[in-house]
Amino acid sequence: MKIISSIEELRQQLRGQLRTAFVPTMGNLHEGHLSLMRLARQYGDPVVASIFVNRLQFGPNEDFDRYPRTFQADVEKLEKEGVYVLFAPTEKDLYPEPQEFRVTPPETLGNMLEGEFRPGFFNGVSTVVLKLFACVQPRVAIFGKKDYQQLMIVRNMSKQFALPTEIIAADTYRAQDGLALSSRNMYLSEQERAEAPTLFAALQQIAQAINTHNPDTLPNIAALEEEAMIKLVQRGWQPDYIAIRKRSDLHAPSMDDLAQGTPLVVLAAAKLGTTRLIDNLEI
Ligand code: PAF
Repeated sequence: MKIISSIEELRQQLRGQLRTAFVPTMGNLHEGHLSLMRLARQYGDPVVASIFVNRLQFGPNEDFDRYPRTFQADVEKLEKEGVYVLFAPTEKDLYPEPQEFRVTPPETLGNMLEGEFRPGFFNGVSTVVLKLFACVQPRVAIFGKKDYQQLMIVRNMSKQFALPTEIIAADTYRAQDGLALSSRNMYLSEQERAEAPTLFAALQQIAQAINTHNPDTLPNIAALEEEAMIKLVQRGWQPDYIAIRKRSDLHAPSMDDLAQGTPLVVLAAAKLGTTRLIDNLEI
């Protein structure tokens, strides 16, 4: 595997490649990331991964400084997965001058859910993803469904800018007890780790309540969300949101949507101690 930090060198290395499959990451790779690399191999060749902890997407009180950086272990894992190039720019490589041009997602998608609780997050994500796409020029790029809103924003950005990169969604990789794998799980204490699968369990309960609901009446979406939030609070969580939304645009479903069986997804973000976890489940 070639490890490249400069944009110029990356361009030279990938010149003439028309079927590149790209997996952007912030490192601290776990099985979830590796499953993205395997999926990438099904969609293209060569597979290019990136590791870059993107300062632009972290808020001033977030974990940029303490975000786990495990470069050597990551390299070994990517080598085993047959990744051809690892693009690992420094901040100077990727942002040689202040990144003044930014991509701002539409408010109707970018300012709700994660965007409400992490102002500027999707501006930072979209900006770096566009820039990484410009560097790698992939035909496909793989994004996990665990970051459901991020996936939708990147997909819509790629479509609206007519980028030649197709966005492929990868299923969430879960531990046996249901917890979605995430680099931030390593912040959890032993006790918190044991409690953490409750978040996914709450989503499963909502999905089950909707799927088994009496077809003659409509499910009470607000009540289901509130009930799940209360249960989490009682167990010591601090939920930011539990939201049942339409898969198509992440807006709340209307009565008509519910009556017509419009595809839904339930999304959650909650803090356990100081660790903020997110998860979602398509219904
Ligand atoms: O999902 C992530 O790891 C990051 O948001 C991404 C897409 C690599 C952009 O920094």
